[in-house]
Amino acid sequence: MVATDTGPEEAMAANRELVALLGAVAAARAEQPGGDLTSALTSALIAARDEGGGRLGQHELIGTPLLLITAGHETTPNLITNAVRALCTHPDQLGLVRSGGARRADVVEETPRWDSPVSYLPFRCPTRDLTLDGTVIPQGTPVLAGYSAAGRDMAAHGPDADRFDVTRPVRATAARHLSLGHGPHYCLGAPLARMEAVIALEQLFTRFPQLDPAVPGTALPRRAGFVGNSAETLPVRLRPGSVPVTDRRSPAHMIDGPRADRRCAVLPSPAVPPGVPHPFRTHPAARTAR
Ligand code: HEM
Repeated sequence: MVATDTGPEEAMAANRELVALLGAVAAARAEQPGGDLTSALTSALIAARDEGGGRLGQHELIGTPLLLITAGHETTPNLITNAVRALCTHPDQLGLVRSGGARRADVVEETPRWDSPVSYLPFRCPTRDLTLDGTVIPQGTPVLAGYSAAGRDMAAHGPDADRFDVTRPVRATAARHLSLGHGPHYCLGAPLARMEAVIALEQLFTRFPQLDPAVPGTALPRRAGFVGNSAETLPVRLRPGSVPVTDRRSPAHMIDGPRADRRCAVLPSPAVPPGVPHPFRTHPAARTAR
């Protein structure tokens, strides 16, 4: 949805399609509200538009869900993928979490610092000339904030900023990370994203304690574009005994080439038909962005 590797025509067409779709959904829910979240949001937005003395314009009825979907859709899967990958490639850190020496919540804070789910967010333009650390940014200049770089800043995080350390103490002089933004526009969905990631890690590693990467980190294809930051797929192996064979809902599709790998022979057949992308195997973002 925030792909930066598409041409302007394709991007505009996708945007128009999404706006039209959201418009149709909002209209349908306004006419016949249900008990779902979209209905609740639509009703609240309509109330703000109609009763709030122009607090909200018609275009914001669409823009608000659009922002929520865009902001919450690709980011959290990136966080979860980056956290799983970081733990799998740092067994000492995974061991700490397993032994109770660190919490999953610590992983969910260290991951965005070390491997930010959002690399850059275009664009901010200062409303006046701004001097930052001796550099003047003239009014109106587009500024690209680099969250990945900020997380590895040695001045902020110390000489070992490149190290993934779930026990890293919060420094008095710097925020733990800036990946959820800062100031008045700090991420509205931060508590939800944190909760989702903690639950996902807990469920995944409880169910598949022996999970390990199926390909070396360097061989993982990166997602295209420079806004989101994650691998496009994260193939992993599950070991015998880690999956209850009776549970046919098991996300066995997380494994690339499971049948070629004898260690995965105990796995049940996938519940999702072949060819249907599985959320853990391919990012929803990667599917919709193309
Ligand atoms: C790990 C997951 C997430 C990351 C890394 C992330 C990152 C960010 C960042 C960096 C900003 C600040 C943008 C700015 O300064 O202009 C932001 C804002 C925002 N985020 Fe998130 N986000 C995540 C999850 C979510 C979720 C799940 C939702 C909603 C369901 C959400 C909704 C928003 C909204 C509405 C804003 C705009 C807030 C404002 O401008 O006042 N985000 N997010």
